[in-house]
Amino acid sequence: MHAVILAGGKGTRLRPLTVYTPKPAVPIVNRAFLLYQVEMLRRAGIDEITLSLSYQPDKIEQILGDGAELGVNLRFITEPSPLGTGGAYRFAADGIDDTTVVLNGDILTDLDLAALIEAHRTRGAAATLALKPVEDPSRYGLVVTREDGTIENFLEKPTRESISDLPSNTINAGIYVLEPSIMDLVPLGENRSFEYDVFPVILERGLPFYGYTMDHEYWRDIGVPESYLNANLDMLSGRLKGFAAQPNGDADIATAAAIDSRSRFAAGVVVKPGAKILNSVLGPGVQIGEKTVIEDSVIWAHTRVASGAEVSGAVIGRSCHIGRNATIRPGSVLGDKSQLTDYTKV
Ligand code: GDD
Ligand code: MG
Repeated sequence: MHAVILAGGKGTRLRPLTVYTPKPAVPIVNRAFLLYQVEMLRRAGIDEITLSLSYQPDKIEQILGDGAELGVNLRFITEPSPLGTGGAYRFAADGIDDTTVVLNGDILTDLDLAALIEAHRTRGAAATLALKPVEDPSRYGLVVTREDGTIENFLEKPTRESISDLPSNTINAGIYVLEPSIMDLVPLGENRSFEYDVFPVILERGLPFYGYTMDHEYWRDIGVPESYLNANLDMLSGRLKGFAAQPNGDADIATAAAIDSRSRFAAGVVVKPGAKILNSVLGPGVQIGEKTVIEDSVIWAHTRVASGAEVSGAVIGRSCHIGRNATIRPGSVLGDKSQLTDYTKV
């Protein structure tokens, strides 16, 4: 079976983290985000995976390679210009005449894809969307289903007023199983959105269109910094089923430093005496000074945090320098190469 991962968005809402790093390659616990999706696909027996790219395709290809190490066959297709989610799928899936799984390239989930595909087949669906109940559907695509599981209505980014009229809080989780007939609804090479163009046409034509609700599974869109940080912390706390913990790298940790068992560190990390690392992720080559405290935070490769600093609930990009006794408070997000003078508070 085939899968197409839609990974061509610019990741604007995840800035500054995506200024130098494409969204699919942002690390979740020291591993490129997209690798978790690849692992999930492989687990369901899907090993032909096409990445649909348009923004920074070379960087993504370089980070992911051909997939041989991952036990899958990765193919990269770059659009001449962004074609929208539906157009990108049509372009990337051209020639595939088999049922295809399509993933938004920014969702982290432990959904059992094999069960989703099975439900799609049993019902004889042309298209099945995984759905997730959420508190505020306004950032997403709101989906209303009937009792038999068929989809009655799809409303992308509904306004709060329109939501109050709808008897649903389940949203499109960005995971689809599609029959090749869906490709006929999208002209090759043209810009189309699944959400605004293709799904409404499926509804209009009355094709067998089903929802599959994820009740207990973990699901998160990593598209904004707060959510990106929480995805890392959820991974540390073992909330996602089926993903092995990232092994710690070969690091130089002072005996007088304290790193709790939840935290993960990559190769080349240096932690000086008296430092405390709690519930955090340290990327390759990160250096933590004496008596510095890092808590509930993610720090990307080669960043140095000098002595006496306090970092809490923050994401710090690559190759930053945080000066002595600086304080970085919850919610802070520092882009790559940021420099903070000693004693700065952000
Ligand atoms: N190749 C390609 N080309 N990929 C694209 C393009 C494009 O022109 N536009 C967007 N994508 C990719 C993005 O990289 C992302 O992985 C995915 O398609 C979805 O786009 P987002 O920009 O992240 O959409 P969203 O988060 O606002 O909403 C979507 O996801 C929600 C779930 O997280 C919609 O599908 C909603 O209905 C859904 O609820
Ligand atoms: Mg998104």
